[in-house]
Amino acid sequence: MADSVLDYVGKMRESDKGDMLSFCVDEAKHYRVAAEAAEKISLSYVNPENVIVAGMGGSAIGGELLKDWARGKAQVPIEVSRAYSLPAYANEKSLVLVVSYSGETEETLSTFLDAVKKGCMVFCISSGGSLLKFAEKLSVPFLRVPSGFAPRAALPYLFVPLLVVLAKLGGVSGVSAELSEAIAVVERIAGECAPEKPVKKNMAKSLAVGVNGAVPVVYGFGVFRGVAQRFKTQFNENSKVPSKWEYFSELNHNEVVGWERAGKLAGCFSAVFIRDGAEPDEIRSRIEITKGLMPSGTKLFEVWSQGKSDLARMLSAVCIGDFTSVYLALLRGVNPTPVETISLLKAKVKQNGTKMRIVGELERLAASR
Ligand code: PA5
Repeated sequence: MADSVLDYVGKMRESDKGDMLSFCVDEAKHYRVAAEAAEKISLSYVNPENVIVAGMGGSAIGGELLKDWARGKAQVPIEVSRAYSLPAYANEKSLVLVVSYSGETEETLSTFLDAVKKGCMVFCISSGGSLLKFAEKLSVPFLRVPSGFAPRAALPYLFVPLLVVLAKLGGVSGVSAELSEAIAVVERIAGECAPEKPVKKNMAKSLAVGVNGAVPVVYGFGVFRGVAQRFKTQFNENSKVPSKWEYFSELNHNEVVGWERAGKLAGCFSAVFIRDGAEPDEIRSRIEITKGLMPSGTKLFEVWSQGKSDLARMLSAVCIGDFTSVYLALLRGVNPTPVETISLLKAKVKQNGTKMRIVGELERLAASR
């Protein structure tokens, strides 16, 4: 039954497939377009002492990927700030990359206000909205990305500029070579996971079939920490299922005990391990030991990254997760694209007046300059 539903997806008319599936199919193309656009970014800032990526949800995940990718390369600390304000250390030596796809997220607008007031080196990335309106009014440099995507489907447009800015200002090298390889690998994976590929020959479809009916728990490590988080959020927003994520080796110091007496609860979860041909021996050993300690009968799955560079391996796994979450949605008979609960929540929260206050403060600041 599950197989036939997913095999049918390959025969659907384009318009029936839903935006998220089209995004997955075209993921490599979006990275390519995003890379071309990001190359044109020119900033007059110099030598930031720290980098803060400010955003929420689908606009913040690129910051997590940046942080993981740069951990072994950048000489400056990188933090992702998902809050109404910046950390106390932020000052004029901080490079603050404000990311909001819609440009209307109240936490992100509030952090933008904080960054401008603190005199930080600010750069905004958005498709428009209040963020770009005030960036223009306050003469803050910005990149306008294409509109019309769900924020999580705009990942290439939100993440690639972060890499490029870090390369330009943060002293990291090798971005363009890694990106070229990543695009080629993502293109290959999109072919392997394509809707017309049957379940038996399609790793994303077979993973979707495998995790269907249980809460997917995704385990990453190292550069795949944020990738595990991306899997989790894609399962939430595309497949509309609860999901969680953890990373090695931290999960060996707490999470692993949770399986000890899980009993019947273990059957409610499936564990997805992100694996990598280049994983360090100490991590490989921990993954194998952890799998051996899981209650027998727990559904265990592995997703193997592809490619050579860190970026290619990271984005290959992201692409497999993106496809899997969409196929899981289709298996469950839900539309992967809309996120009604987030829209509803934002509408309700708006009534408390916070956003109006933040926008009012931005208006006054713009008028005073
Ligand atoms: O995926 C989503 O729709 C959300 O996680 C949004 O990204 C989040 O609510 C923030 O909105 P925006 O990306 O427009 O700043």
